Order: sequence, then structure tokens, then C-alpha cells
Amino acid sequence: MIISAPEDYRAAARKKLPRFLFDYIDGGANSEFTLERNSSDLRDIELRQRVLKGSLEIDLSCQVWDQELALPVILAPVGLTGMYAKRGEVQAARAAERSGIPFTLSTVSVCSIAEVVQNTDKSIWFQLYVLRDRAFMKDALERALAVGIDTLVFTVDMPVPGSRYRDAHSGMSGTNSGLRRILQAMTHPEWAISVGLFGQPHDLGNISTYRGQRTNLTDYIGWLGDNFDPEISWSDLQWIRDFWPGKLIIKGILDADDVEDAIALGADGLIVSNHGGRQLDGVSSSIRALPSIVKATDGRAKVIMDSGIRNGLDVVRALCLGADATLIGRSYIYALATKGQAGVEHLLELYTKEMEVAMTLMGAKSLSDLTPDKVRR
Ligand code: FNR
Ligand code: LAC
Repeated sequence: MIISAPEDYRAAARKKLPRFLFDYIDGGANSEFTLERNSSDLRDIELRQRVLKGSLEIDLSCQVWDQELALPVILAPVGLTGMYAKRGEVQAARAAERSGIPFTLSTVSVCSIAEVVQNTDKSIWFQLYVLRDRAFMKDALERALAVGIDTLVFTVDMPVPGSRYRDAHSGMSGTNSGLRRILQAMTHPEWAISVGLFGQPHDLGNISTYRGQRTNLTDYIGWLGDNFDPEISWSDLQWIRDFWPGKLIIKGILDADDVEDAIALGADGLIVSNHGGRQLDGVSSSIRALPSIVKATDGRAKVIMDSGIRNGLDVVRALCLGADATLIGRSYIYALATKGQAGVEHLLELYTKEMEVAMTLMGAKSLSDLTPDKVRR
């Protein structure tokens, strides 16, 4: 299979992975309306072609607090990454490090914080969910601090998991799912050997470390549903702000009316996100929500956007509409599943090239030139 565009990795990943894993990554909530809108609304933003304003040197670097990023892209927290490639979190973190951007480790990663940090440098951000077990949350924060992590991404748009119907169809959950997953693994021998066999142990590394015993992945979605806390409120987050001395980013803001609470909490950054269309189907795409959130934030926090970004042009669009940087989820996971660390590094080279070409054709030399007047909505 020839891979020349960032989007080519999706089809490659589909071939390589057992169906339950591909569909878990690829799918969204309910009828996947928001999932589709995330990308189609991005595509609908017209870039303006400007001529004879070019430059030899296009500068994609950006400053996020004291961190210098080679390009305004951050790898999003994605659960179970170690199931898509052998010790997947470590491979992705290494690719991010080599490409000069941060990697965000999910709470529900296969590899633990310690395993990832031991195998990479320190461009790691840590993502935490609101879980019923507050002692676990504190323990995870302490572990992150102890290894020198200073940026916390706190996800607030998952008090309950969304309705992911594809997971029941695919064998990720539902009747006879264990048997169906084994059959799917058998028909994907490359994955079965490299990840299924040599990518062990397959558990939730951070949670196993805390509990001192292996966690079972057989009912992962069920585990999420049982452990997430639907009653969480802004005031419950105060202890996290008080406890965490580093940067705190609130992930999952989609409405300008929630900005004031996040700022009052003391958030250093917001991630405009609908969780990649995996939570409340029918909500606005992230890109449509972005301008009003940028306006409400009014420079008081960094505004990062995710959901729907599939290539370098999408990053340009998001920056034109006011994002300071973007997170990518599925886009890098498909590359990781296809070719591991090398796949993610290649993907990020493609993003870089696409952004450089686009900015040259738009008459923009650096990211500060990407302003709302460079696009038409
Ligand atoms: C996610 N996402 C996510 N977010 C989070 O805060 N913690 C997590 O553990 C996960 N897990 C997860 C698993 C999978 C398979 C996907 C696809 C996504 C959401 C993720 O961080 C990000 O918000 C979306 O992926 C962004 O949308 P795109 O880039 O995938 O369109
Ligand atoms: C998901 C969770 C793990 O989107 O964030 O599947």
C-alpha cells in the first residue's frame, strides 16, 4: 500500500488491525454526525490564495508557555494506545520527541507513566480523567510530578462514556465479544504476533501500578462506565488546581459559556474539543465552536483545538481561526498502527510539508501571519 498523504494511513490501519480495535479508534457516538462534521466543517473553510508574497523560510515553530514546539501540533491522549502497536505509547512518545512536539499520555494507557518516561525525554504531558476514586487521581498526579511532568491535561467531557454503537457491532463490547476478538486477531496475524503476543502485558498501566495488581482489559468500556464520575462539578476541580503546581489545561470545552468557569478555576489552557465526536453526538464541530471560545477567553489562557484534524491544511485552518495549537488523535493513531514510531514521524513530516506549502501559497511566513482574514467561512 502506497502512503503518500496523511489520510492514507487510515486505510492502512484498517487492514492491519483487528476490526474491534479499528472501529474503536475510528468510530464516534450514536449516528456519528458530529464525527463527520468535525472534518467536513474544517474542509469547508476556504483558504485564501495570495500571490507574490512568498518567503524562502517558513517558520512553523510555536511557543506554548516555556515549551518550544517545532510545529503547532501535539499528540492527543488516546486510551489503549499500546493495543494498536507494540508498547504504542512509548513509540508515539519517541516519535513526538524526535519531531519536537509534546506527547500526551492518557490515564487509560497500556504503558504506565514510568514506562513512557524511562524510554523518552521529557516532552510528555499527562492526561487525567475525573474518576470516582480520588485517591487514584492523587496517586497518578504524584507519580507524574515525581518524574518531572509539568503539564496536566484534565479531561472534563467524559463524565460518562458516549453511546458507541460501533463497539457492540465490532466485538469491542457486547455478546460473545471475547470470542469475536480472538477470531479477529487470528485473521490479523501480523498484529497478533507483534502486539498480541510480543506487546504484552496488556493492561491499564497506570491503574495496575496504583492497585498493585493487573487490570483486565476484557471489559474496558464497562470499566470506564463504572469508574467515571458523572457528579463532578467545577468546585470539585479546585483541589486539582491547588495540588498541581504545573500548567493545567482543561480539555473538552465546546461552549463559550463554560470559559469563565475554567478561567476562574485558574486554567492555563483550554482544549476546544468534542472528544473527536465520541461523546455527545449532535453537538457543534470543534472548528465552529473555536472562534467564540477564543473571543470569550480573550488571551487569558492558551486555546488549543482538536477533533477532525486530518492534515496540515486543517492545522492552518484552526490557527487562522484563533487556535494557538492543535491536538491530533486518530490521525497519528492510524500512522502508529501502520508503522509504529516511524509512521508517526513520517506523518508529522507530511504535516510540516503541507503547512509549509500552504503558508507559502497564502503569503504567510510564520504562524502569527495565520489570522482570520486569511480564510473565508
Ligand atoms: C480518545 N480521546 C481521549 N481523550 C482523553 O482525554 N483521554 C483518553 O483516554 C482518550 N481516549 C481516546 C481514545 C481514542 C481511540 C480516540 C480516537 C480518542 C480523545 C482524543 O484525545 C481527542 O480529543 C480526539 O481524538 C480528537 O479528535 P480526532 O483528532 O481523533 O478527530
Ligand atoms: C474514549 C475514551 C477512552 O474516547 O476517552 O474512548
